[in-house]
Amino acid sequence: MNQQLSASPRAVAGAFGGVTVAYGGGSARFTRARGAPIMELTTASGLRRRYRITRTIGGRALQEYVGVLVGDREQLEVRLPFGWWLARPGWYPQPYFDSWFGAEHADDGGLTFDAYTPARSPWAARCAWCHNTYPFELRLLRDSRIGNGPEAHVDLLASARSAAAQARIRDQNLLPVDELVTVGVSCESCHLGGRDHVGGAAPRFAPVSPLVRRHHDAPPLDRGRDEPGLVNALCAQCHSTPSPRYPDGAAIRNSTEALDLAAAACAPSIACTDCHDPHLRGPGAGAPDQPAHLTACTRCHDQLADHAAALAHGRHPVGAASCLDCHMPRIVEGVGAFVRSHRISSPSNSTMLAAGAPNACNLCHLDRSIRWTVDELRRGWGVPLTPDARWRDAYGDLDHAVGTAWLTSQHAPVRLTAADAFARAGDRIALPSIVALLDDPVAHDRMWMLLAVERLVGRRLEPHEYDPMAPPALRATQAGTLRARAAAWATR
Ligand code: HEC
Ligand code: HEC
Ligand code: HEC
Ligand code: HEC
Ligand code: HEC
Ligand code: HEC
Ligand code: HEC
Repeated sequence: MNQQLSASPRAVAGAFGGVTVAYGGGSARFTRARGAPIMELTTASGLRRRYRITRTIGGRALQEYVGVLVGDREQLEVRLPFGWWLARPGWYPQPYFDSWFGAEHADDGGLTFDAYTPARSPWAARCAWCHNTYPFELRLLRDSRIGNGPEAHVDLLASARSAAAQARIRDQNLLPVDELVTVGVSCESCHLGGRDHVGGAAPRFAPVSPLVRRHHDAPPLDRGRDEPGLVNALCAQCHSTPSPRYPDGAAIRNSTEALDLAAAACAPSIACTDCHDPHLRGPGAGAPDQPAHLTACTRCHDQLADHAAALAHGRHPVGAASCLDCHMPRIVEGVGAFVRSHRISSPSNSTMLAAGAPNACNLCHLDRSIRWTVDELRRGWGVPLTPDARWRDAYGDLDHAVGTAWLTSQHAPVRLTAADAFARAGDRIALPSIVALLDDPVAHDRMWMLLAVERLVGRRLEPHEYDPMAPPALRATQAGTLRARAAAWATR
């Protein structure tokens, strides 16, 4: 989660051994001074600033850093622009791992993101709110509610804080980080009502205080862990970040699992804890199906609990396709891998199919056409679908392989999802098309194509072969050379 270096000096995942990264005319150097990690940022015009790292954020797939400008009297903790990406170990500026950015360069050739001048806005105004544990009261004092958990359903009647302290939290969204219960997400992020429990009351999950009043139309918040709505609401305090969405409403980016699950047909009786133990580290993105996840489906859909019935419904041999493969496909961009959608849905969703959005069948059957899929959905599951002109616009040709059509989609998430599916399948046929996308003007999209290419060729490309952070002209030349080699790789 989050760690504070004063307490956890070993929390640092990134290489601070004196590495220098040159990018966009400036440079970033990662070093140490008297043991403390330093991020030294030099702009193209030679202006140098040194930041001492004070905190880390994350560490499973990506680690970001918070630091203070050396010599700054205020010692303001800010989020720094370079992150250490474990998916392809190395230092990258934010637009390389974060999808919220557009093209890397403006029309005049200049960078659209200043990698060397961190914003002078406090880290505590944003990131801290989902990556730490603090009194629930603070969630209620914040003006723009950060999540969709119990804080969305209750009001605070009074606070013992001074008016000035309240205003700082309310108007500047500033979390008083010196009041954290713990650095990182721990017990009291989920176990609301903890003080009450310590005082002898039975454990509860709802906020308990005479100063908190529930809205009239609030969902039940006091039935404890047997109420899926309450359990999910606890997770929704943080797992409900904004995301761009597919045509059926499913999230394109992760961290919004609670909103996705709530929109699924299985809500409201399904709980996060049906599949996740909140006290244990999960198996990680891309891990094989966990038995608990599959039994969660059949606990409710008990007509499919019977092995023969499940096989008859799925129409695939054991191990070829699971409930999750067809109903929770990997269409969500995680931090280092594409992860399963939490909007449980069916591959027969006509909104998704008509728009050329990813569908579970073709994510495995990349070489098949959409007409094949429509025919098989009718034959196997009795789903009536009639492709019209919209479908033709989306796929170009109804009889061409869907996988390669997706790679030319005008929607980046569709291209990325398809490249990831080819990489997962180890299917090199599309390597030339994927390599062509290494010249994408959006840094983040380029990186995901690179991840797919490297998985397909089974090694990391050397910087002389392809450097995602090289100046545009060099990068285009490198991508061109690789394209010529890709045809040979594809058939090897
Ligand atoms: C609304 C809640 C929320 C806010 C605000 C938020 N995050 Fe996160 N963040 C999450 C969640 C939830 C995850 C877990 C994502 C997952 O694994 O699916 C996450 C994951 C991450 C990770 C990846 C962790 C890893 O181990 O790979 C990083 C890095 C990160 N966030 C950085 C930030 C930074 C920097 C900010 C502030 C600019 C921020 N977050 C603000 C909710 C939030
Ligand atoms: C991410 C949210 C989350 C965090 C963090 C968390 N818990 Fe839990 N905890 C839950 C949920 C949800 C349940 C109910 C699980 C269920 O019913 O399957 C639970 C159940 C429990 C139970 C069992 C209660 C019972 O009546 O069965 C105990 C004990 C517990 N937690 C202790 C802790 C402690 C101690 C910590 C910190 C070290 C902690 N939890 C951190 C969410 C969390
Ligand atoms: C206070 C905010 C917060 C709450 C509440 C919260 N999470 Fe998270 N969760 C995070 C953050 C931040 C991460 C990313 C951690 C990282 O890698 O640094 C995360 C990561 C995860 C992961 C991926 C990591 C792993 O080990 O599998 C799962 C799964 C998860 N949370 C499930 C839950 C569930 C289920 C609940 C509710 C019972 C919940 N979370 C409540 C903030 C929260
Ligand atoms: C807690 C109970 C519960 C669990 C667990 C559950 N479901 Fe459901 N599911 C439902 C209910 C209730 C409906 C709505 C049924 C209806 O409308 O007939 C539903 C509907 C569906 C639908 C129909 C979707 C649509 O768009 O029409 C699919 C597909 C589905 N579930 C698959 C799954 C899969 C796969 C899993 C496991 C990942 C799962 N469900 C887990 C209760 C559950
Ligand atoms: C190979 C893909 C595939 C697999 C595997 C699969 N399903 Fe389905 N499922 C479908 C399709 C296609 C539909 C039809 C949706 C429709 O009628 O529009 C469907 C429909 C459903 C529905 C809603 C309609 C109904 O029949 O009740 C549920 C619930 C469901 N599946 C659950 C499951 C569960 C649980 C599993 C695992 C045991 C599973 N599915 C495995 C493809 C699959
Ligand atoms: C039906 C089972 C099921 C339910 C219910 C469920 N999840 Fe998951 N979740 C999964 C599976 C399976 C994965 C693994 C995804 C993968 O390997 O790509 C996962 C992965 C995740 C991750 C990690 C994503 C990443 O980027 O690595 C987070 C975070 C998460 N779930 C949060 C939640 C939250 C919060 C809820 C409740 C709102 C929830 N899940 C409910 C099955 C479930
Ligand atoms: C997780 C990957 C996966 C998913 C999802 C999946 N399939 Fe398959 N499918 C396979 C594999 C692997 C085989 C080959 C199984 C064998 O014969 O050993 C196969 C075989 C088939 C076959 C028979 C052989 C052929 O190619 O004609 C049909 C038909 C089929 N799938 C249709 C579908 C449809 C329709 C969907 C969506 C509802 C779907 N599949 C979803 C992996 C998948």
